Formats: sequence, C-alpha cells, structure tokens
Amino acid sequence: MDENLEILFDEQAIEQRVAELAAQISRDYAGKDLVLVCILKGAALFTADLSRHLTIPVTLDFVHVSSYGNATVSSRTITVKKDIDTDIRGKNVLLVDGIIDTGGTITFLIEQCRERGPASLKVVTLLDKHSRRTADFPIDYRGFEVPDIFVVGYGMDCGEKYRNLPYIAKLDPLST
Ligand code: IMP
Ligand code: MG
Repeated sequence: MDENLEILFDEQAIEQRVAELAAQISRDYAGKDLVLVCILKGAALFTADLSRHLTIPVTLDFVHVSSYGNATVSSRTITVKKDIDTDIRGKNVLLVDGIIDTGGTITFLIEQCRERGPASLKVVTLLDKHSRRTADFPIDYRGFEVPDIFVVGYGMDCGEKYRNLPYIAKLDPLST
C-alpha cells in the first residue's frame, strides 16, 4: 500500500455501512419510485454499491459539476459540466454525494433540483466533513463523519488518483 495512506474505513466497514444506508432508504421510500442522482466523479463507486442494495424501483442519473476559486462557498463559482437527462418534476429525487465538505457543491445542486419541481428531494452522502460546513442544511442520510483531514479512495481523489481504492484512507498532507 502507498506509504502516504492510512486506512480509515476498510472494505468491510464500507460495505456494512452502505448496506445499512440502503436498508434505511428502502424502508423510507417503500411503495415509491426513486431517482438516484450520482454526483460525479466522487460518488460513482458509492452509487453503484448503494443502488445494488436498494429494494425499491430505482432509475439512475448523473450530474457533473466543476468549481473554481478557493474553498469558501461565497467565492466559488460552480458550473454544470454534465446535467441530468431525467425530467424530475413530480419525482422522488435522492442526490448521492461522496463527500460533503463546505457544502457549497451540494447547496448549488439542491437549488438546481428544487427549481425543477420534484415531489421530494433528499441527500445521501457517504462522508460528511461536518466541521468544515459554512452553510448548514440537513443531510438526510450520512455514512460516516470525518474530521477535517484529506481523504481518498472509494471514489474520492487527489489529482484524479486513488479513486479506485476499495477503502477510504487519510492522505498524508505532506504528500499532497
Ligand atoms: P464542498 O463543495 O466544499 O462541499 O466540496 C465537496 C467536494 O470537494 C467533494 O465532492 C470533493 O470533490 C471535494 N473534496 C472535499 N474534501 C475532500 C477530501 O477530503 N478528499 C477528496 N475530495 C474532497
Ligand atoms: Mg477531487
């Protein structure tokens, strides 16, 4: 293993937590259809695993945004690189994120979706860096809370590296 990495959540811990989240979501949406919107690229692995465990009828869609400027919400510009194809008016929508940091990206996407008139709109994130939040809003489902450290693996990257790791690890700040 890369010597700059320290495992925080191994494959088994992730698998178990993802199954728990899927069970909870399946219960909450029982008798309903759900549009899962995967936020690329970070949530790709999480969405694939989560969706496999859901017992309700699901459709999948993907959104890809990019942000410029520094890390604070107010000074960042977020643009849509790839929008969803689904007409979500009147549908139950669940935004699937890999990690919520300041909350800027997800706030932008919530606003965008809300304008399109879904029947319901919720958020699931695998990781929540809650101490970094600049704008508070409810997260409906969360996998794990993480402290203010840089993490990689299971979809999360550093310069596009490490996304394919089956575990989530802390990346040594000296190596970034
Ligand atoms: P936010 O808009 O500040 O919430 O930032 C969310 C985005 O920042 C995530 O979707 C990731 O792309 C990236 N990000 C924030 N923290 C980390 C981290 O620790 N590792 C990898 N990517 C991160
Ligand atoms: Mg990244």
